[in-house]
Amino acid sequence: MRILTGIQPTGTLHLGNYFGAMRPAINLQTQGEAFYFIADLHSMTALFDPKARLENVLNVALDFMACGLDPDKCIFFRQSDVPEVTELTWILSAMTPMGLLERCHSYKDKLSKGIEANHALFSYPLLMAADILLYETNIVPVGKDQKQHVEVTRDIAIKFNNTYGPTLVIPEPQIQESVAVVPGIDGQKMSKSYNNTISIFGDEKSIRKRIMGIQMDSRSPDEPKPDADKNSAILLMKLLAEPSVAQEYEDRLRAGGLGYGDLKKSLFEIYWNYFEPARKRRAELAANLDFVRQSLGEAAEKARKVAAVVLDRVKKASGLGPV
Ligand code: ADP
Ligand code: TRP
Repeated sequence: MRILTGIQPTGTLHLGNYFGAMRPAINLQTQGEAFYFIADLHSMTALFDPKARLENVLNVALDFMACGLDPDKCIFFRQSDVPEVTELTWILSAMTPMGLLERCHSYKDKLSKGIEANHALFSYPLLMAADILLYETNIVPVGKDQKQHVEVTRDIAIKFNNTYGPTLVIPEPQIQESVAVVPGIDGQKMSKSYNNTISIFGDEKSIRKRIMGIQMDSRSPDEPKPDADKNSAILLMKLLAEPSVAQEYEDRLRAGGLGYGDLKKSLFEIYWNYFEPARKRRAELAANLDFVRQSLGEAAEKARKVAAVVLDRVKKASGLGPV
């Protein structure tokens, strides 16, 4: 079974990314043949700073590997190192009705926010379809926001197979229903677009400040809090602490007597200890960037071998083979 997913190198990774996407991907790397890539071509739709793109790619690689992605267990590469994907994108674009892309929520959301769409933003799901189909993917673990793009991929693949004969493997999305939405410091969904994130890695002082800044109401410490299970700090603690520890804090908050400041101090300590081993690994990797670059390069070579076979089959099927 082949599993594939991509992550965009658009910013500093946060706890929402970790619990919603990274940890599930890391756990899946032993469940099948996992292909994970850093979607730098997708980042071109919204990021126009070349230096930032390269830095972000390296940072995502370091973050993922520090958190447990093992280049010996999965194929972890940079999207643009397999140029076959752009060729397949063109071939698939002729199988894609305009309406299919016009209906995509993520595109419509961006338009409604007043973002001036370039063509790449419009055809974003098509490049994603090529990512998925190029590696004969069976399972695509993604967040709910990306489910429609996997459905678009299925429609395109089915149309290709109907037009040119059975060629492409039809993928299935796998949605992490069990992972609740991770709240940010303002209680909304944690997202870099809302500037409410807590990063996975960063210096102690600024993360402490961020955690101490989690918004709370004005009830006094002594007041009982019957809604303790909805408190953002408690919700984050449930992800980061042993269940019995998180439960103890929740009970104390509910009963009254635990101040918000003390709760957040404890949350910081728990957070800091949780990522201690990953921080150590990240520092080691950062001191050995050649290893990281080499491992991305070797993975890209392996991915290209698979890509070449599939692209060849697609070209033969569609009348682009040798004359
Ligand atoms: P952002 O919202 O910060 O721009 P992305 O959309 O780049 O994050 O997130 C990549 C993946 O990380 C998402 O598809 C989703 O699976 C996961 N993710 C992001 N934020 C959260 C969150 N607050 N809770 C759960 N999962 C999240
Ligand atoms: N669009 C995905 C996101 O923003 C990233 C991505 C690109 C992807 N190509 C993919 C995810 C292929 C799964 C499969 O999160």
